Amino acid sequence: MKYNFDEIIDRKSNFAAKYDELTLKYGKGDLIPMWVADMDFKAPQPVIDTMRERLEQGIFGYTSRPDSYYESISQWLEKRHGWKVDPKHIIHSPLVIPSINVIIKEFTQPGDKIIIQTPVYSPFFDVVKNNDRELVINPLKLVDGKYVMDYKNLEEAAKSGAKMLLLCNPHNPVGRVWTREELVKLGDICLKYGVKVVSDEIHSDLIYKGNKHVPFGMISEDFFKNSITCSAPSKTFNIAGLQASYVIFPTEEEKQIFDHAWTLIDIKRNNCFSLVATEAAYRHGEEWLEQLLEYLEGNVDLVKDYCDKYIPKIKPNRPEGTYLIWIDCRELGMDKDQLTKFMIDEVKVAFNAGHAFGVEGEGYIRMNIACPRPIVQEVLDRLKTAIDKL
Ligand SMILES: Cc1ncc(COP(=O)(O)O)c(C=O)c1O
Repeated sequence: MKYNFDEIIDRKSNFAAKYDELTLKYGKGDLIPMWVADMDFKAPQPVIDTMRERLEQGIFGYTSRPDSYYESISQWLEKRHGWKVDPKHIIHSPLVIPSINVIIKEFTQPGDKIIIQTPVYSPFFDVVKNNDRELVINPLKLVDGKYVMDYKNLEEAAKSGAKMLLLCNPHNPVGRVWTREELVKLGDICLKYGVKVVSDEIHSDLIYKGNKHVPFGMISEDFFKNSITCSAPSKTFNIAGLQASYVIFPTEEEKQIFDHAWTLIDIKRNNCFSLVATEAAYRHGEEWLEQLLEYLEGNVDLVKDYCDKYIPKIKPNRPEGTYLIWIDCRELGMDKDQLTKFMIDEVKVAFNAGHAFGVEGEGYIRMNIACPRPIVQEVLDRLKTAIDKL
Protein backbone atom coordinates (compact mmCIF):
# COMPACT_ATOMS: atom_id res chain seq x y z
CA MET A 1 0.00 0.00 0.00
CA LYS A 2 1.18 3.50 -0.80
CA TYR A 3 0.98 5.91 2.15
CA ASN A 4 0.38 9.63 1.71
CA PHE A 5 2.54 11.48 4.24
CA ASP A 6 1.65 14.81 2.63
CA GLU A 7 -1.86 14.55 4.05
CA ILE A 8 -2.43 17.29 6.63
CA ILE A 9 -4.46 15.82 9.48
CA ASP A 10 -6.19 18.18 11.88
CA ARG A 11 -5.04 17.21 15.37
CA LYS A 12 -7.18 19.81 17.10
CA SER A 13 -9.55 17.17 18.52
CA ASN A 14 -6.76 14.62 18.93
CA PHE A 15 -5.90 15.68 22.50
CA ALA A 16 -2.37 16.07 21.13
CA ALA A 17 0.14 17.31 23.71
CA LYS A 18 2.09 18.83 20.82
CA TYR A 19 -0.80 21.24 20.07
CA ASP A 20 -2.87 21.41 23.25
CA GLU A 21 0.09 22.25 25.51
CA LEU A 22 1.43 25.09 23.37
CA THR A 23 -0.01 27.83 25.55
CA LEU A 24 1.16 26.12 28.71
CA LYS A 25 4.71 25.60 27.44
CA TYR A 26 5.22 28.57 25.09
CA GLY A 27 2.65 31.12 26.31
CA LYS A 28 0.92 31.15 22.90
CA GLY A 29 -1.47 28.71 21.29
CA ASP A 30 -1.08 29.74 17.65
CA LEU A 31 2.48 28.56 17.02
CA ILE A 32 3.40 25.78 14.57
CA PRO A 33 4.44 22.93 16.89
CA MET A 34 7.81 21.44 15.93
CA TRP A 35 8.73 20.30 19.45
CA VAL A 36 7.63 17.13 21.28
CA ALA A 37 8.82 13.98 19.49
CA ASP A 38 5.73 12.50 17.94
CA MET A 39 4.63 12.58 14.33
CA ASP A 40 1.70 14.24 12.56
CA PHE A 41 1.21 11.07 10.50
CA LYS A 42 -1.29 8.26 10.91
CA ALA A 43 0.10 4.97 12.20
CA PRO A 44 0.51 2.07 9.72
CA GLN A 45 -2.82 0.81 8.36
CA PRO A 46 -2.37 -2.72 9.80
CA VAL A 47 -2.04 -1.14 13.26
CA ILE A 48 -5.23 0.87 12.79
CA ASP A 49 -7.10 -2.17 11.39
CA THR A 50 -6.00 -4.41 14.24
CA MET A 51 -7.01 -1.81 16.82
CA ARG A 52 -10.37 -1.34 15.10
CA GLU A 53 -11.00 -5.10 15.26
CA ARG A 54 -10.11 -5.06 18.94
CA LEU A 55 -12.40 -2.04 19.48
CA GLU A 56 -15.30 -3.80 17.77
CA GLN A 57 -15.06 -6.63 20.29
CA GLY A 58 -16.42 -4.10 22.76
CA ILE A 59 -14.92 -5.66 25.89
CA PHE A 60 -11.83 -3.98 27.30
CA GLY A 61 -11.05 -5.98 30.41
CA TYR A 62 -7.71 -6.98 31.96
CA THR A 63 -5.39 -8.14 29.26
CA SER A 64 -3.00 -11.06 29.29
CA ARG A 65 0.10 -11.17 27.12
CA PRO A 66 0.52 -14.09 24.71
CA ASP A 67 4.00 -15.48 23.87
CA SER A 68 3.58 -14.11 20.35
CA TYR A 69 3.90 -10.58 21.76
CA TYR A 70 7.51 -10.94 22.89
CA GLU A 71 8.23 -13.12 19.85
CA SER A 72 7.15 -10.27 17.57
CA ILE A 73 9.61 -7.91 19.31
CA SER A 74 12.40 -10.46 19.11
CA GLN A 75 11.74 -11.17 15.41
CA TRP A 76 11.75 -7.44 14.64
CA LEU A 77 15.09 -6.91 16.39
CA GLU A 78 16.60 -9.73 14.38
CA LYS A 79 15.10 -8.65 11.06
CA ARG A 80 15.87 -4.91 11.34
CA HIS A 81 19.09 -4.95 13.34
CA GLY A 82 20.45 -8.49 13.14
CA TRP A 83 20.18 -8.89 16.92
CA LYS A 84 19.00 -12.30 18.12
CA VAL A 85 17.33 -11.81 21.48
CA ASP A 86 15.67 -14.69 23.28
CA PRO A 87 12.10 -13.50 24.07
CA LYS A 88 12.74 -14.68 27.64
CA HIS A 89 15.13 -11.76 28.11
CA ILE A 90 12.46 -9.18 27.20
CA ILE A 91 10.01 -7.62 29.62
CA HIS A 92 7.19 -5.15 29.11
CA SER A 93 7.08 -1.71 30.68
CA PRO A 94 4.72 1.16 29.91
CA LEU A 95 7.35 3.74 28.94
CA VAL A 96 11.09 4.10 28.50
CA ILE A 97 11.81 6.92 30.95
CA PRO A 98 9.90 5.24 33.81
CA SER A 99 11.91 2.07 33.01
CA ILE A 100 15.17 3.99 33.35
CA ASN A 101 13.89 5.41 36.63
CA VAL A 102 13.22 1.93 37.98
CA ILE A 103 16.57 0.65 36.68
CA ILE A 104 18.40 3.47 38.47
CA LYS A 105 16.49 2.81 41.70
CA GLU A 106 17.04 -0.95 41.61
CA PHE A 107 20.59 -1.19 40.28
CA THR A 108 22.35 1.79 41.88
CA GLN A 109 22.41 3.38 45.34
CA PRO A 110 21.66 6.99 46.40
CA GLY A 111 24.77 9.10 45.83
CA ASP A 112 26.12 6.83 43.07
CA LYS A 113 27.59 8.56 40.04
CA ILE A 114 25.76 8.17 36.73
CA ILE A 115 27.26 9.42 33.45
CA ILE A 116 25.31 11.13 30.68
CA GLN A 117 26.66 12.58 27.43
CA THR A 118 25.33 16.03 26.66
CA PRO A 119 23.58 17.67 24.89
CA VAL A 120 21.01 14.96 25.54
CA TYR A 121 17.28 14.36 25.98
CA SER A 122 16.51 16.35 29.11
CA PRO A 123 14.79 13.60 31.19
CA PHE A 124 18.23 11.94 31.33
CA PHE A 125 19.21 14.72 33.76
CA ASP A 126 15.99 14.37 35.75
CA VAL A 127 16.07 10.60 36.23
CA VAL A 128 19.50 10.87 37.80
CA LYS A 129 18.86 13.94 39.96
CA ASN A 130 15.34 12.94 41.07
CA ASN A 131 16.73 9.68 42.40
CA ASP A 132 19.43 11.46 44.41
CA ARG A 133 22.21 10.03 42.28
CA GLU A 134 25.14 12.20 41.23
CA LEU A 135 25.15 13.43 37.66
CA VAL A 136 28.48 13.11 35.87
CA ILE A 137 28.52 14.93 32.55
CA ASN A 138 30.68 13.80 29.66
CA PRO A 139 29.93 16.43 26.99
CA LEU A 140 30.04 15.31 23.37
CA LYS A 141 32.71 17.04 21.29
CA LEU A 142 31.94 18.83 18.06
CA VAL A 143 34.73 17.87 15.66
CA ASP A 144 34.53 19.18 12.07
CA GLY A 145 30.80 19.66 12.45
CA LYS A 146 30.21 16.14 13.81
CA TYR A 147 29.40 15.19 17.38
CA VAL A 148 31.71 12.53 18.79
CA MET A 149 32.27 11.04 22.22
CA ASP A 150 35.07 12.27 24.44
CA TYR A 151 36.69 8.96 25.46
CA LYS A 152 39.45 10.56 27.50
CA ASN A 153 36.97 12.41 29.66
CA LEU A 154 34.73 9.34 29.73
CA GLU A 155 37.56 7.25 31.12
CA GLU A 156 38.17 9.85 33.84
CA ALA A 157 34.47 9.79 34.71
CA ALA A 158 34.39 6.00 34.76
CA LYS A 159 37.57 5.88 36.87
CA SER A 160 36.03 8.25 39.40
CA GLY A 161 33.73 5.42 40.49
CA ALA A 162 30.67 5.91 38.26
CA LYS A 163 28.25 3.00 38.47
CA MET A 164 26.11 3.56 35.38
CA LEU A 165 26.07 5.32 32.01
CA LEU A 166 22.91 6.33 30.18
CA LEU A 167 23.60 5.86 26.48
CA CYS A 168 21.32 7.49 23.94
CA ASN A 169 21.68 5.18 20.92
CA PRO A 170 20.89 6.82 18.46
CA HIS A 171 21.44 10.17 20.11
CA ASN A 172 18.65 12.70 20.67
CA PRO A 173 19.05 15.65 19.90
CA VAL A 174 22.19 15.54 17.73
CA GLY A 175 20.99 12.68 15.52
CA ARG A 176 24.14 10.59 15.69
CA VAL A 177 23.77 6.87 14.94
CA TRP A 178 26.76 5.60 16.89
CA THR A 179 28.99 3.24 14.91
CA ARG A 180 30.17 -0.14 16.15
CA GLU A 181 33.66 1.27 16.57
CA GLU A 182 32.43 4.16 18.72
CA LEU A 183 30.30 1.86 20.84
CA VAL A 184 33.14 -0.61 21.30
CA LYS A 185 35.38 2.16 22.66
CA LEU A 186 32.67 3.28 25.05
CA GLY A 187 31.77 -0.29 26.04
CA ASP A 188 35.40 -1.25 26.71
CA ILE A 189 35.84 1.69 29.08
CA CYS A 190 32.61 0.84 30.87
CA LEU A 191 33.60 -2.83 31.21
CA LYS A 192 37.06 -1.94 32.50
CA TYR A 193 35.69 0.24 35.31
CA GLY A 194 32.48 -1.67 36.08
CA VAL A 195 30.08 0.96 34.72
CA LYS A 196 26.73 -0.57 33.73
CA VAL A 197 25.44 0.71 30.36
CA VAL A 198 21.74 1.49 30.04
CA SER A 199 21.14 1.85 26.32
CA ASP A 200 18.05 3.82 25.33
CA GLU A 201 17.33 2.63 21.78
CA ILE A 202 13.89 4.19 21.32
CA HIS A 203 15.00 5.90 18.05
CA SER A 204 16.77 2.83 16.66
CA ASP A 205 14.39 2.17 13.76
CA LEU A 206 14.58 5.74 12.46
CA ILE A 207 17.84 5.49 10.57
CA TYR A 208 18.74 7.23 7.30
CA LYS A 209 20.48 5.72 4.28
CA GLY A 210 24.16 5.04 4.70
CA ASN A 211 23.89 4.49 8.47
CA LYS A 212 23.29 1.36 10.52
CA HIS A 213 21.97 1.11 14.04
CA VAL A 214 24.14 -1.13 16.19
CA PRO A 215 22.34 -2.41 19.29
CA PHE A 216 24.83 -1.99 22.13
CA GLY A 217 24.03 -5.41 23.60
CA MET A 218 24.62 -7.14 20.26
CA ILE A 219 28.28 -6.22 20.06
CA SER A 220 29.59 -8.95 22.37
CA GLU A 221 28.50 -11.27 25.15
CA ASP A 222 30.50 -9.12 27.61
CA PHE A 223 28.69 -5.96 26.51
CA PHE A 224 25.33 -7.76 26.67
CA LYS A 225 26.04 -8.83 30.25
CA ASN A 226 27.11 -5.32 31.19
CA SER A 227 24.04 -3.61 29.74
CA ILE A 228 20.30 -3.15 29.91
CA THR A 229 18.48 -2.03 26.74
CA CYS A 230 15.27 -0.01 26.69
CA SER A 231 13.26 0.38 23.53
CA ALA A 232 9.73 0.70 22.16
CA PRO A 233 7.57 0.74 19.04
CA SER A 234 6.33 4.20 20.08
CA LYS A 235 8.61 6.52 18.07
CA THR A 236 8.90 4.15 15.11
CA PHE A 237 5.18 3.75 14.46
CA ASN A 238 3.83 6.93 16.11
CA ILE A 239 2.01 5.08 18.87
CA ALA A 240 3.52 6.81 21.93
CA GLY A 241 0.04 7.50 23.31
CA LEU A 242 -0.60 3.76 23.66
CA GLN A 243 2.22 3.45 26.18
CA ALA A 244 4.04 0.20 25.56
CA SER A 245 7.78 -0.27 25.70
CA TYR A 246 10.16 -3.07 26.62
CA VAL A 247 13.43 -3.72 28.38
CA ILE A 248 16.03 -6.38 27.58
CA PHE A 249 17.93 -7.85 30.52
CA PRO A 250 20.97 -10.11 30.26
CA THR A 251 19.95 -12.30 33.19
CA GLU A 252 16.73 -13.69 34.62
CA GLU A 253 17.76 -12.40 38.04
CA GLU A 254 18.01 -8.77 36.87
CA LYS A 255 14.76 -9.11 34.95
CA GLN A 256 13.03 -10.35 38.10
CA ILE A 257 14.34 -7.40 40.13
CA PHE A 258 12.85 -5.01 37.56
CA ASP A 259 9.60 -6.99 37.38
CA HIS A 260 9.29 -6.98 41.16
CA ALA A 261 9.56 -3.17 41.27
CA TRP A 262 6.59 -2.82 38.92
CA THR A 263 4.66 -5.59 40.66
CA LEU A 264 4.95 -3.69 43.95
CA ILE A 265 2.87 -0.91 42.42
CA ASP A 266 0.77 -3.47 40.53
CA ILE A 267 1.70 -2.37 37.03
CA LYS A 268 2.24 -5.46 34.94
CA ARG A 269 -0.16 -5.59 32.01
CA ASN A 270 -0.40 -3.92 28.62
CA ASN A 271 -3.54 -1.98 27.98
CA CYS A 272 -5.66 -3.95 25.51
CA PHE A 273 -4.85 -1.64 22.58
CA SER A 274 -1.09 -1.41 23.07
CA LEU A 275 -0.98 -5.20 23.16
CA VAL A 276 -2.44 -5.70 19.69
CA ALA A 277 -0.93 -2.53 18.20
CA THR A 278 2.64 -3.44 19.17
CA GLU A 279 2.40 -6.89 17.65
CA ALA A 280 0.68 -5.61 14.48
CA ALA A 281 3.31 -2.88 14.07
CA TYR A 282 6.23 -5.25 14.42
CA ARG A 283 4.69 -7.92 12.20
CA HIS A 284 3.12 -5.75 9.51
CA GLY A 285 4.48 -2.19 9.84
CA GLU A 286 7.73 -2.48 7.91
CA GLU A 287 6.33 -1.40 4.54
CA TRP A 288 5.00 1.80 6.15
CA LEU A 289 8.30 2.40 7.94
CA GLU A 290 10.31 2.14 4.71
CA GLN A 291 8.08 4.77 3.07
CA LEU A 292 8.19 6.95 6.18
CA LEU A 293 12.00 6.96 6.23
CA GLU A 294 12.13 8.04 2.61
CA TYR A 295 9.67 10.86 3.32
CA LEU A 296 11.53 12.01 6.44
CA GLU A 297 14.80 12.05 4.54
CA GLY A 298 13.11 14.32 1.98
CA ASN A 299 12.19 16.67 4.82
CA VAL A 300 15.78 16.62 6.08
CA ASP A 301 17.03 17.47 2.58
CA LEU A 302 14.55 20.32 2.34
CA VAL A 303 15.69 21.84 5.66
CA LYS A 304 19.37 21.46 4.78
CA ASP A 305 19.07 22.83 1.23
CA TYR A 306 16.79 25.71 2.18
CA CYS A 307 18.95 26.87 5.08
CA ASP A 308 22.18 26.56 3.07
CA LYS A 309 20.64 28.63 0.28
CA TYR A 310 18.38 31.15 2.01
CA ILE A 311 19.23 31.28 5.73
CA PRO A 312 22.97 30.59 5.92
CA LYS A 313 23.14 32.12 9.39
CA ILE A 314 21.47 29.03 10.84
CA LYS A 315 23.14 25.69 10.33
CA PRO A 316 21.13 22.48 10.54
CA ASN A 317 23.11 19.41 11.49
CA ARG A 318 22.21 16.53 9.12
CA PRO A 319 20.86 13.74 11.36
CA GLU A 320 21.98 10.16 10.69
CA GLY A 321 18.85 9.00 12.47
CA THR A 322 15.78 10.32 14.37
CA TYR A 323 13.30 12.85 12.96
CA LEU A 324 14.89 15.63 14.99
CA ILE A 325 17.18 18.26 13.49
CA TRP A 326 19.65 20.07 15.71
CA ILE A 327 20.15 23.58 14.37
CA ASP A 328 23.04 25.85 15.24
CA CYS A 329 21.70 29.41 15.57
CA ARG A 330 24.74 30.90 17.31
CA GLU A 331 25.46 33.24 14.42
CA LEU A 332 22.25 35.10 15.21
CA GLY A 333 24.16 36.44 18.20
CA MET A 334 21.37 35.97 20.74
CA ASP A 335 21.61 34.62 24.25
CA LYS A 336 19.38 31.70 25.19
CA ASP A 337 16.46 33.81 26.39
CA GLN A 338 16.59 36.10 23.37
CA LEU A 339 16.68 33.11 21.02
CA THR A 340 13.71 31.47 22.71
CA LYS A 341 11.71 34.70 22.61
CA PHE A 342 12.64 35.32 18.97
CA MET A 343 11.43 31.87 17.89
CA ILE A 344 8.12 32.31 19.72
CA ASP A 345 7.35 35.97 19.07
CA GLU A 346 8.90 36.58 15.65
CA VAL A 347 9.14 33.20 13.91
CA LYS A 348 5.94 31.96 15.59
CA VAL A 349 7.11 28.36 15.76
CA ALA A 350 7.49 26.15 18.84
CA PHE A 351 10.94 24.55 18.68
CA ASN A 352 12.72 22.91 21.60
CA ALA A 353 15.25 25.34 23.04
CA GLY A 354 18.74 23.87 22.76
CA HIS A 355 19.74 24.74 26.32
CA ALA A 356 17.10 22.30 27.62
CA PHE A 357 19.50 19.54 26.51
CA GLY A 358 22.43 20.89 28.52
CA VAL A 359 24.58 24.03 28.52
CA GLU A 360 26.27 22.86 25.32
CA GLY A 361 22.91 23.39 23.61
CA GLU A 362 22.81 27.14 24.18
CA GLY A 363 22.34 28.90 20.84
CA TYR A 364 20.73 25.82 19.26
CA ILE A 365 17.16 24.73 18.60
CA ARG A 366 15.74 21.26 17.96
CA MET A 367 13.22 20.92 15.16
CA ASN A 368 10.87 17.94 14.76
CA ILE A 369 10.43 17.34 11.02
CA ALA A 370 7.94 14.45 11.29
CA CYS A 371 5.11 16.35 9.67
CA PRO A 372 3.80 16.94 6.15
CA ARG A 373 6.33 18.72 3.93
CA PRO A 374 4.18 21.84 3.34
CA ILE A 375 4.38 22.49 7.10
CA VAL A 376 8.17 22.15 7.10
CA GLN A 377 8.23 24.58 4.17
CA GLU A 378 6.02 27.06 6.05
CA VAL A 379 8.32 26.88 9.08
CA LEU A 380 11.37 27.54 6.90
CA ASP A 381 9.66 30.51 5.23
CA ARG A 382 8.79 31.93 8.65
CA LEU A 383 12.39 31.49 9.79
CA LYS A 384 13.72 33.24 6.69
CA THR A 385 11.28 36.16 6.96
CA ALA A 386 12.05 36.75 10.64
CA ILE A 387 15.82 36.36 10.26
CA ASP A 388 15.89 38.66 7.19
CA LYS A 389 14.32 41.38 9.36
CA LEU A 390 17.09 41.27 11.96
C1 LIG B 1 15.89 9.25 23.85
C2 LIG B 1 14.47 9.20 24.34
N1 LIG B 1 14.16 8.36 25.33
C3 LIG B 1 12.90 8.28 25.81
C4 LIG B 1 11.89 9.07 25.29
C5 LIG B 1 10.53 9.02 25.89
O1 LIG B 1 10.09 7.71 25.97
P1 LIG B 1 8.81 7.38 26.83
O2 LIG B 1 7.73 8.31 26.40
O3 LIG B 1 8.54 5.95 26.46
O4 LIG B 1 9.18 7.55 28.26
C6 LIG B 1 12.19 9.96 24.25
C7 LIG B 1 11.14 10.83 23.71
O5 LIG B 1 11.35 11.75 22.96
C8 LIG B 1 13.51 10.03 23.77
O6 LIG B 1 13.85 10.87 22.79
